[in-house]
Amino acid sequence: MPARAPSWGKLLARGRARLEQAGIDEADNKLRWVAGHLLGCGLLDVLRHLDDVPAPTEAGQFGTMLGRLERHEPVQYVIGETDFMGLRIQCDPRALIPRPETEGLVRCAEEFLRSRTGTPVVVDVGTGTGCIACALAKRVPQARVVATDVCAATLDLARANARALGVVVDFLHADLLADLPAASADLVVSNPPYVSTAECIRLPRSIRDYEPRGALDGGPDGLRIISRLVSEAARVILPGGRLMIEIGEDQADAVRELLCPKAHFKFVAIQSDFAGNPRLAVAERSRT
Ligand SMILES: C[S@@+](CC[C@H](N)C(=O)[O-])C[C@H]1O[C@@H](n2cnc3c(N)ncnc32)[C@H](O)[C@@H]1O
Repeated sequence: MPARAPSWGKLLARGRARLEQAGIDEADNKLRWVAGHLLGCGLLDVLRHLDDVPAPTEAGQFGTMLGRLERHEPVQYVIGETDFMGLRIQCDPRALIPRPETEGLVRCAEEFLRSRTGTPVVVDVGTGTGCIACALAKRVPQARVVATDVCAATLDLARANARALGVVVDFLHADLLADLPAASADLVVSNPPYVSTAECIRLPRSIRDYEPRGALDGGPDGLRIISRLVSEAARVILPGGRLMIEIGEDQADAVRELLCPKAHFKFVAIQSDFAGNPRLAVAERSRT
């Protein structure tokens, strides 16, 4: 009698053993994420299918995806998507995987945009997958959302996300805020590359080997892009408008110094993420 094909429960248990052997953390979660993707259900609902036997094609796909996880590829690239602010964002190595801490930047931006009258203009610099721009376009429909990225391939992915989500974002292939007119934006937001070059080399393999270096490397001190952004933002933001930048947890003092009256900004706040780390710098464009 031919052996019965393994159930989902068996595949997951074998998968866990292989991932643990390969030194992959959160093995159970990642495998459930993959199984849920193939089954078309959420992580918790996977548990209802443990005794079911997957179709041979599903089992084959699971095996291929397991192999990719084993090679330290991030699960979001393996399944091709992630959740950001309740939105399904397509992911692939053209762009950084959206992180949960960036949701704090979106909430802060949303609150500010809602306080503006008319059609406020927000520019998302270094849009990556377009996650921030798309979330703002969904949540603040009265705003005009512009998004830039220096990488053309990244922008193609961001455009695909905006199309799939049914939101309107004006994407520009630009170096930071080049090409944007002076005094044209109420708000500039950015999650720029802010990891120092030395730190990039020490990042976990799943990030270092898979996510784009241009999305991470902020130069020798990690501040190369942020300091350029501050001076360009002073030209583009309307007086009384705001600049919001996601920063590394050890950069608060340095960024606070950059956001000074001499640079045409009045420092507003450094906000912490859910883990209590200072991760978001907020400043107001001076009126003079
Ligand atoms: C840390 S990723 C952020 C991606 C996305 N906004 C997010 O939060 O997930 C930084 C992005 O900035 C882009 N970038 C790097 N240098 C840039 C520059 N000089 N001008 C515009 N975009 C740049 C990278 O291509 C990358 O997509």
